[in-house]
Amino acid sequence: MRAPAAPAAHAQQLLAQIGQFLGHPVPPVLAQALRTVPRHLFLPDRIWRGDGQGGYELCDRTVEPDRWLEAAYTDVSLVTQFTEGLPTSSASMPSMVLRTLLLAGLHTLPSPLSVVEMGTATGFNAALLCALLGDQAVTTIEWDAALAKVGERNLHMAGYTPTVVRGDGAAGWPDRAPYDLILSTFSVDHLPPAWTAQTAQGGRILTPWNSAWCCYGTLEATTRPDGSAQGRFHPFAAYMPMRRPRPTTPGPTTADHSTQHATTKLSPWASPAAI
Ligand SMILES: C[S@@+](CC[C@H](N)C(=O)[O-])C[C@H]1O[C@@H](n2cnc3c(N)ncnc32)[C@H](O)[C@@H]1O
Repeated sequence: MRAPAAPAAHAQQLLAQIGQFLGHPVPPVLAQALRTVPRHLFLPDRIWRGDGQGGYELCDRTVEPDRWLEAAYTDVSLVTQFTEGLPTSSASMPSMVLRTLLLAGLHTLPSPLSVVEMGTATGFNAALLCALLGDQAVTTIEWDAALAKVGERNLHMAGYTPTVVRGDGAAGWPDRAPYDLILSTFSVDHLPPAWTAQTAQGGRILTPWNSAWCCYGTLEATTRPDGSAQGRFHPFAAYMPMRRPRPTTPGPTTADHSTQHATTKLSPWASPAAI
């Protein structure tokens, strides 16, 4: 059974903020999904908001329930886990989530469509995908075993049953491939080969991108018959980086810190990228 929808006034406030970010109203199909999936059900009691000075401030539901609910329906990302002092999981900023769904064309595409989400975390984005495409169409992969459990529990409590996998998103999930859409919610600096291999021909890959030359964009690529993918970058998408296994062999004892410099007039936003 599905959980009751998001509190109407809160959902409306969030939709207005997202519309402001997008520069146009949220398309009806996506607005309906956002009203249907109550974001607060996916958040833990303790969440951290950016304090505007590069740090974070805690908001604890048991101490400040009204402020906590307000944060749940404000267009900000909310950190849900720190590891060794660094944020390692979050509920993504709703306008970023919605913009990615728009880029993926989910406001217009007919169902069914099979999609794999990389980075389950709270499960909120996976729930939106279920609301749009149906539970059967959705697979979601989370690196962190504890988070995968929490994400799956949140999804079930809200009434959604996608396939939740505890694993390394870089390897994809061949059992349910090929996918029409791979949608990552962590950033990468290269396309893992499994992603192109597990995308149906003509399928799409959307992922935040963060590399030495291109900070925080969203790559939107379509797979081609030869197994490669081609697409372009869209601006803005500050997502956490992909977690990787720690190296088991020690690195070099003396690091080579020499650098090489070059300049280009090429804009990463305007140029097509062949990957
Ligand atoms: C920004 S959060 C995802 C937000 C989430 N989709 C939501 O709706 O709340 C990024 C998540 O990606 C996960 N992650 C990072 N690297 C990963 C990997 N290699 N494989 C699978 N999940 C990974 C992190 O553990 C973290 O929970």
